[in-house]
Amino acid sequence: MIKTGTAGKWFIATIAPIALLSVLPGCAREEAVSFAQDVKPILDQNCLSCHQEGAEGYVASGFSMVTYDDLMKGTKFGAMVIGGDSEGSNLVVLMEGRADPSISMPHGSMKKVASKDIKTIRLWIDQGARNN
Ligand code: HEC
Repeated sequence: MIKTGTAGKWFIATIAPIALLSVLPGCAREEAVSFAQDVKPILDQNCLSCHQEGAEGYVASGFSMVTYDDLMKGTKFGAMVIGGDSEGSNLVVLMEGRADPSISMPHGSMKKVASKDIKTIRLWIDQGARNN
């Protein structure tokens, strides 16, 4: 038979709490979406070419998506992202084609943003649109 004396106590004092801690965050609630890791790459791929200084979207609307601060500043008319309200955020309205077709984004003949990517952006906005 294997002697458990000190080894058993060591297990309960050391391994068990670690195992418990690593399980807890998993069942807390939905995963936090990261701006830097999840959202920014989607904007870079679909929007940035036109929405930076000198490019046509920026020239027409004043909307740059180079940095988080640019994105939150919005267009010359106001904010496009409203933290906590993905439904009312114009960024999402345009990507989902809910506005006039002439200003659905990406503009012109470009492909629509993949619906799973729109979902990621919506979730990020609903979680507060943080610079995380
Ligand atoms: C091919 C170039 C191009 C791409 C790519 C593009 N845009 Fe635009 N964007 C424009 C132009 C041009 C305007 C100005 C439209 C107008 O007012 O007629 C604009 C305007 C906007 C506006 C302001 C709308 C308003 O009320 O004037 C938002 C918000 C916007 N774009 C978001 C996006 C998002 C989000 C993406 C990526 C999913 C994107 N754009 C990709 C060219 C582009």
